[in-house]
Amino acid sequence: MATLNSNYLKLKAGYLFPEIARRVKAFTEANPEAASNMIRCGIGDVTEPLPLAVREAMHAAIDEMGTREGFHGYGPEQGYEFLRTAIAQNDYRDRGMEVADDEIFVSDGSKCDGGNILDILGSDNRVAVMDPVYPVYVDTNVMAGHTGDASEDGSYEGIHYLECTAENGFVPAIPEKKADIIYLCFPNNPTGAVASRAQLEAWVAYARRHGSILLFDAAYEAYISDSSVPHSIYEIPGARECAIEFRSFSKNGGFTGTRCAFTVVPKELTALCKGGERRPLHPLWHRRFTTKFNGVSYVTQRGAAALYSGKGKAEVAALVEHYMGNAKILREAVASCGLKVHGGVNAPYIWVKGPEGATSWQIFDRMLSEANIVVTPGSGFGRAGEGYFRISAFNSREKAIEAADRIKAMKW
Ligand code: MLT
Repeated sequence: MATLNSNYLKLKAGYLFPEIARRVKAFTEANPEAASNMIRCGIGDVTEPLPLAVREAMHAAIDEMGTREGFHGYGPEQGYEFLRTAIAQNDYRDRGMEVADDEIFVSDGSKCDGGNILDILGSDNRVAVMDPVYPVYVDTNVMAGHTGDASEDGSYEGIHYLECTAENGFVPAIPEKKADIIYLCFPNNPTGAVASRAQLEAWVAYARRHGSILLFDAAYEAYISDSSVPHSIYEIPGARECAIEFRSFSKNGGFTGTRCAFTVVPKELTALCKGGERRPLHPLWHRRFTTKFNGVSYVTQRGAAALYSGKGKAEVAALVEHYMGNAKILREAVASCGLKVHGGVNAPYIWVKGPEGATSWQIFDRMLSEANIVVTPGSGFGRAGEGYFRISAFNSREKAIEAADRIKAMKW
């Protein structure tokens, strides 16, 4: 008889966002009048229309596809040259970082890349994650069999959790123990915290000292407003030898539904193989890509490349400004209720400490039933998130203002 991957049976509850959707559905079924009144500040899903520069490029690409000369079948698995060059040039070389076009791998999402990267890493690595943390990093390690069972508080045996608290500014201290793979996300989801250059330098030094790999998720880099904060791990000297960077067009270009992202794997990056010798990871990731993926559609990649045009850049800036305007409104509303608020300055997420003694899911339920607002319970991101909740600033201005008013009207 066939067997299943029993690692999946170790996973606690459902994936966070479907679980929230399930609870919201149950609530609206029981309270149908609340359905049309609901304001969704839970999942970080963009709301504003796709930039015109993107739509024009995609229309043109569709028209091209309708001709014999302009038709595109299978493309290069790792992405078309026009997009890889635009990325490497604009996001890296123009900002003084050395990244070659062929170190960019275009994909359908950072979530997918963040999970798939485990294919090319050993199963005996000691994995460290920030806590609270984007659940994908943990769950994919569970699925791959890199952990033991979950304990009552939802943490997994075998994963090293790096506590992020208000006291350390939600940037974890460098661990005493050695970790082989460390997931870092800045600007952070869910806390909205950013890491300073000095903090990232310390992480790069740690990784180089121990031969560790940093998996650096920079999906929210476009939201950095403080000019001293690095946008990429490769701004730190030595990072090319110890870091993989994940980036996405979801949150800057509004691509959550269109799907396009990329991963940077520098050629200098190596890891140990069984024989004890160091080998580069770039050829392995390339091999994985060409074997398991057929690339992002031509039309989508043309749309993504348009984000780097003058018009595209201006539209991205306007989108970021819009969502950060919402963040300010929501931040101020929460702060005026006397709650301790973090984030929302260099990131589209506001991280709020709930009233003393309330659990994250209790706050979630109260906000759902009393204000018809969906937030994300902090404990869904890990043990250290208990007592917190996250508000996403991805919304229309009208809804952000209405959510702010309802939050202020609640009895905290
Ligand atoms: C979130 O809300 O944390 C993110 O939108 C989820 C994601 O990007 O996959």
